[in-house]
Amino acid sequence: MWLLVQGVLLASCLRAAAFPRGCYPSEEEGLKTFRCSNARLTEVPKDIPNDTNKLYLDSNRIPFLPRDAFRDLPLLLELDLSHNAIAAVESGAFRGLTEHLRSLDLSSNRLVSLSKDALSNVKAKVNLSNNPWLCDCRLQELIRAVDLTAGSSAGIVCDSALQEEHVGKAFLQVIADTDFCNVYKKTTDIAMLVTMFGWFAMVISYLVYYVRQNQEDARRHLEYLKSLPSKQRHSEESSTISTVV
Ligand SMILES: *[C@@H]1O[C@H](CO)[C@@H](O)[C@H](O)[C@H]1NC(C)=O
Ligand SMILES: *[C@@H]1O[C@H](CO)[C@@H](O)[C@H](O)[C@H]1NC(C)=O
Repeated sequence: MWLLVQGVLLASCLRAAAFPRGCYPSEEEGLKTFRCSNARLTEVPKDIPNDTNKLYLDSNRIPFLPRDAFRDLPLLLELDLSHNAIAAVESGAFRGLTEHLRSLDLSSNRLVSLSKDALSNVKAKVNLSNNPWLCDCRLQELIRAVDLTAGSSAGIVCDSALQEEHVGKAFLQVIADTDFCNVYKKTTDIAMLVTMFGWFAMVISYLVYYVRQNQEDARRHLEYLKSLPSKQRHSEESSTISTVV
């Protein structure tokens, strides 16, 4: 009996040792599932069985996804990374995940910004809700490039933005009438217009000044001519008028 208990203990120890701490495999609806939820993980564990279909890494403390973090999981269908501390995703982090992947949950993390390149090979529905997003061109490009999980778009809210008025608003609502990627072009266009208008105004005011000055000179000259004896005046007056004209 004692031997049996020892044997069972030993077996369970060996079994536990084969998997990352806090993780356990199961079979759910015929799919190989690997659960590491609430396991205080600070990185994506190695040694995940390569035939896993569903991987739960939610509710941990993972801050960063390095390149090839999920390289050896060709049969993965669902990947739950929600409720972690992910603030950075290296490009190529999801490399190796195939077109089989149908769901990727990155919600409730600390993503401020994410390049669309990081998700370039991901065909899955992606949940990006509940992250402290910076609403800018980068996010706009990301949102245009990925397939969002149905019903999750309202959860993508601007935590910061260049324009104060966008903070706290759903990003999809904001990009309905703001094109973040064209702001720079617009600004340069406006700057060009202002500069051109400035030059134009300067030229016009110089012309006006020049004409006025000439008129003044001509008037003074005419007055001077009027004060001269009439014979001389006649010839000079006509020459002045031709000059003015
Ligand atoms: C998992 O790894 C084993 C051993 O390396 C290999 O024989 C097997 O084909 C792999 N399975 C998948 C689905 O890649
Ligand atoms: C997306 O993530 C949010 C936040 O974690 C969650 O509340 C929501 O249920 C998720 N949406 C879907 C469709 O899974």
